[in-house]
Order: sequence, then C-alpha cells, then structure tokens
Amino acid sequence: MSKVSKAPTNDFCPQTLFLYGTRDGQGRVDFGLFCWFSYVWNGELGVMACIGGEKQTRENIHRSRVFSANLVTEALLPLADYMGNTDGRRQDKLPPDLAVEEGRVLPVPVLTASPVAFELEVEQFIPLKDGEVMLCRIRNVLQEEALADPDVSPAEKLAAIAPVRTTCCTYFGWKGAALGGWGEPMAALADRP
Ligand SMILES: Cc1cc2nc3c(=O)[nH]c(=O)nc-3n(C[C@H](O)[C@H](O)[C@H](O)COP(=O)(O)O)c2cc1C
Repeated sequence: MSKVSKAPTNDFCPQTLFLYGTRDGQGRVDFGLFCWFSYVWNGELGVMACIGGEKQTRENIHRSRVFSANLVTEALLPLADYMGNTDGRRQDKLPPDLAVEEGRVLPVPVLTASPVAFELEVEQFIPLKDGEVMLCRIRNVLQEEALADPDVSPAEKLAAIAPVRTTCCTYFGWKGAALGGWGEPMAALADRP
C-alpha cells in the first residue's frame, strides 16, 4: 500500500465521544463535548483525558477534581453537538429541561439519557503547552440496566444504544453512516437557549 506523509492529524482514526458533566463554584451544571478520552492501567483500569485551552469544563474540574463522562449516542447527538459548540461561560448554556441526575459515588452531574457514564476523580494533572492531560480514577460506572441482559449479545446492545464516533470533523453513527459535520446536528435541537 503506498502512503503519503501528512502534518499531525487524526483523520480516519474514529474517536468515541463523551459529554463531561461538571459544576462551577456556585453549583451551576455544565456539559461539554470531548473526544480526547482513553484508558490507562494504573493497578486498575483508569481514564486519561486531554483538555485544550481555557474552558469552563477545565476550570470546573480543576476546582472540584471530579467529573462525569457520559457516552454520546445517536439520540443524544444534537444535544452533544450543541454542548461542543457553545461556550460554557455562557450562563444560559444548559437547556432548562435537560434531565440530569446525581452520581452515585461522586458529586457529579450525570446525563440521564446517556446509557453509560463514568464517575471520575482526577489523580494527576499533567500540564502541557496550551492544554493538559488528566489521569483519572474510575470511581463508578453507571450502565443502563438493559446492558446487563445476558440473553442479548454485545453486538445487539451496541446497535441498540448506537454510540457516535467522530473523525474528519464529521460525526458517524454506529453503523458507519455520516451524521453531519461538527456544528450541524445542533440545528435539530428545538429548544436550545
Ligand atoms: C466533536 C467535538 C469534540 C471535542 N473534543 C474536545 C476534546 O477532546 N478536548 C477539548 O479540549 N475540547 C474538545 N471539544 C471542544 C469543547 O467541546 C468546547 O470547547 C466546549 O465549549 C466545551 O464546553 P464548555 O465550554 O462548557 O467547557 C470538542 C468539540 C467537538 C465539536
């Protein structure tokens, strides 16, 4: 296979998307969209997450050292796209009717409509030039009850929840269909602030 060299890019390397749930010092809930998220081994399974630049989510995590990471599904995509394209320093970012519940182990806001959520506690902040990596302990995993059904295969469960992936500035559904460029699906969100 003949290859061509490129400047740094992760095009054609799909990433799973998560909405990070945090609170500011006044208790205001924020959700932001993130894909630089993966796993580490540190005596047990942990999470590594990278945030670039200054943003509300980063400030909130610095203050509290805790956040939730909620899996983005096709059903959640318009909301997720909106959360990824709207600055959390806007006081009215959160849609007023958004269903949010509390973590079971950590004081973190969890998105009710997401089928899988991690409750994360930062163990180490690693500062970079204009960003930072956070190494996190997974304090709890919340999964929709249906995902525990032993009579349903992982393939069927994944098809049912339909996680979204992203690459080439485009969202892709679980079966590979293109679901729009970054900033497009949010147009379908009827009652965004
Ligand atoms: C598809 C997509 C993926 C994103 N992934 C990241 C990421 O991994 N890290 C990051 O720092 N920002 C990422 N962003 C940008 C943040 O979502 C954006 O800065 C947002 O405003 C963060 O929410 P906040 O302002 O409430 O903190 C992503 C945006 C989109 C559209």
